[in-house]
Amino acid sequence: MRTPAPVLRVDAGLQFDRLPPLSLYVHLPWCVRKCPYCDFNSYEARGALPDLEYVDALLRDLRSEIELAQGRAIETIYFGGGTPSLFSAAAIARLLDGLKSAATIAADAEITLEANPGAVDVARFAAFREAGVNRLSVGIQSFRNEKLHALGRVHDSAQAEAAVATARAAGFANVNVDLMYALPGDDVAGAVADLERAVALEPEHVSWYQLTLEPNTAFERRPPELPGDDVVAKIEEQGRALLAAHGYERYEISGYAQRGRRCLHNLNYWQFGDYLGVGAGAHGKVTLPEAGHIARRAKTRNPRTYQLQAGNAAATSEERVATREQAALEFLMNALRLLDGTTVETFEARAGQPERAIGAARAAAAARGWLSAEPGLLRATPSGLERLNKLLELFA
Ligand SMILES: C[S@@+](CC[C@H](N)C(=O)[O-])C[C@H]1O[C@@H](n2cnc3c(N)ncnc32)[C@H](O)[C@@H]1O
Ligand code: SF4
Repeated sequence: MRTPAPVLRVDAGLQFDRLPPLSLYVHLPWCVRKCPYCDFNSYEARGALPDLEYVDALLRDLRSEIELAQGRAIETIYFGGGTPSLFSAAAIARLLDGLKSAATIAADAEITLEANPGAVDVARFAAFREAGVNRLSVGIQSFRNEKLHALGRVHDSAQAEAAVATARAAGFANVNVDLMYALPGDDVAGAVADLERAVALEPEHVSWYQLTLEPNTAFERRPPELPGDDVVAKIEEQGRALLAAHGYERYEISGYAQRGRRCLHNLNYWQFGDYLGVGAGAHGKVTLPEAGHIARRAKTRNPRTYQLQAGNAAATSEERVATREQAALEFLMNALRLLDGTTVETFEARAGQPERAIGAARAAAAARGWLSAEPGLLRATPSGLERLNKLLELFA
C-alpha cells in the first residue's frame, strides 16, 4: 500500500465571482441623554445640534468612498444612532438629497430612521416621510413607567404609545418597535404585558432584545438586579408564543415581522452583504474581488474629530479579512442568527471559498445536532441557536 502524500494546507485566498448587494448605514450620534445600558457610539447633546454641518461631513465621507460601491446601487439605507429623530427635517432632507446625488439609490430602497419617543412630533415625522424615509424604528423599550425610569429613558409610557400613532399620522406604513426584556427586577407577567401593548399598536416589525450588561456602561459599573435564567426562559417562551399568535414570525434571534415586513437592511447584514458606513464610529464592509479580500472600515468615533476629518484618510481605519477561516467565521456569525439560515451557494459567493473548506466543522456541528444536515443549506437547529457561540467555536 502506498503512503498518501502529505496534503499541504495552502490558503488559496478569497475568490469572488460576483458582488453581494450593497446597503448604506448612516450614524447620527446624539441623544437627549445617555441611557445607562447603552454602549452605542452616542453622546448627550449639549445645546443646539450642529446637524447641518454634520450632514456636510457625512456627504464628504460618502463621496470619498463611493468608488467602493463598484457600480452597485444602494438597496437599503439606515439612519441609526444615537437618536436620528433629533435632527431637523431640513437636515434629513439635505442629507437624503445629497446621498441621492452622490450615489445611485435603488428606486424601491428601504430607508429606515430610528426615533426616540421622547423626540417625536407629527410635523417632523411627516417631513422625514416627505424627504424619502419610508420606515420608522421607534425605541420604546418598555411601556412600564417604573422600568422606563430604571432604564434612564427620557419618555414615559404615554409618549411610547403616542409615538406609533404619530408615525401613522405622518404617513408611515412600515414601523418597527424596539422593546427590551429581562429588565431590572423584571417578571414574566410584566414583560409579556409589554409585548401585549406593543402588538396592540400593530407595528409591522418588533425587535425584542434581552437586556445585556455591556462593557463601559453605567449598568456595568453599578449592575442592577436582573432576573434569573428560569424567569428569562419563561419570558421568552410566553413572549414568542404571543408574538406568533399575532402573526409576527421570528426570523432572527431578536427579529419578528409580519409577512413581507422583514427588515431588509438588517437582512443584508445577516446574509453577509456589503455596506458602506458613514458617520462617527460607523462601520462598513466591502468585498474587493480583484484584491481577493473583504475590507472592514471604521470611522473615527468622536463626532467633533469626525466632522473635521470626514472625507480624509485620517477619518478611516481599515482591516482586511483575507483568510478563508476568518471569512467563513464572520459569515456564519451573521447568517446563523437567521432562523432560516442561508444557502451554501450564498456562503460560497460571499465568503469567497468552496463549501468543502468548512466541511469538517460542518459535519461536527451536524453530528452534535446543532446544524441542519440538509444539503445545500446552512441553518442552526433550535438547539444550535440556543448555543450559537459554542456552535461557532467549531468553525474558529
Ligand atoms: C441604537 S438604539 C437606537 C434607538 C434609539 N436610540 C432609542 O434608544 O430609542 C437600538 C436599540 O438597541 C437596543 N439596545 C441598546 N442597548 C442594549 C442593551 N444593552 N441590551 C439590549 N438591547 C439594547 C434598544 O432596544 C435600542 O432601541
Ligand atoms: S437613546 Fe438609544 S442610542 Fe441614545 S443612549 Fe439611549 S439607547 Fe443609546
